[in-house]
Amino acid sequence: QLPSNVRIVEVGARDGLQNESAVSTQSKVTLINALAAAGIKDIEAGAFVSPKWVPQMADSSEVISALELPDCNLTALTPNLKGAEAAHAVGIKEFAIFTAASESFCQKNINCSIDESITRFTDVLAFAKANNIRVRGYVSCVLGCPYEGDIDPQAVLAVAEKLLALGCYEISLGDTIGVGTAKKVDQLLDLLLTHIDKSLLAVHFHDTYGQALTNIYTALKRGIATVDSAVAGLGGCPYAKGASGNVATEDVVYLLQGLGIEHGIDLERLAKAGWAICSALNKQPVSKVSLALKNQ
Ligand code: HMG
Ligand code: MG
Repeated sequence: QLPSNVRIVEVGARDGLQNESAVSTQSKVTLINALAAAGIKDIEAGAFVSPKWVPQMADSSEVISALELPDCNLTALTPNLKGAEAAHAVGIKEFAIFTAASESFCQKNINCSIDESITRFTDVLAFAKANNIRVRGYVSCVLGCPYEGDIDPQAVLAVAEKLLALGCYEISLGDTIGVGTAKKVDQLLDLLLTHIDKSLLAVHFHDTYGQALTNIYTALKRGIATVDSAVAGLGGCPYAKGASGNVATEDVVYLLQGLGIEHGIDLERLAKAGWAICSALNKQPVSKVSLALKNQ
């Protein structure tokens, strides 16, 4: 059942750094280059969102323009046509649109209802198609919402199917506030996998309650082969109070290594990339694997 190969989508430079103020453009560029040098192929490099909403991502155009990584798939958040055009202008070949399985979270995060978000995305998808850009779709709050609590798996399925119908090539299932447990992951996948092929799904776990690795293992056992993570466990979401960072990429790589699953990433170089950005942020990585390697 376990996949033989897992694709890691590194979201630290976006999901991680969207929560950190005063990170220089150069630190972001250095981080992304170090991640690529560690072998990561899929890197979410920024967000073309409103700078009034998330000022931390306001330099995404500068960051991406400064990168020369022809072997990498650089992606960026594009919540609307304006964002899509700006991402295209700096050569982004994969957009990420994002909505939620919870109405309240959708309103707080992108200032519209779930249905309105889908309508908005129609323009983004049309623009992407015309420019040969592929689009990934995020669904937030798949295992719980900071405003509504439990989320019905049926609500997740409905949104995921709408995003696929729009033309997204993949759906990333976001446990935005990290409240999920293995049993809830299994229950959600019981439903989703009867309607959606596993090759179209990715998992995106935040580690607020320390369950992310267990949840990833649960998803891997169901055949899911794309995992989002952030180097050093950076991050959180500005519209989900108290949510901590994504699962650390170092910890995921160590898990995959132990399972004999291919991933193509050099763990030591990855850990060094994490230490470098953390020293710029004046903090320690939130990754047990990284700390263990450092103390060896
Ligand atoms: P709005 O205020 O409803 O939009 O925001 P608007 O169209 O009325 O525009 C308001 C102002 O923003 C205007 O400027 C626009 O030009 C500007 P003004 O005329 O007032 O000077 N604007 C933009 N500027 C730059 N780029 C753009 C853009 N769009 C409008 N693309 C909007 C709607 C969606 C823009 C806003 O709510 C927004 O930017 N939200 C983003 C929030 C965000 O980035 N959240 C974090 C990422 S999601 C996440 O972390 C979850 C995830 O990791 C998965 C998981 O963990 O679950 C993905
Ligand atoms: Mg996230």
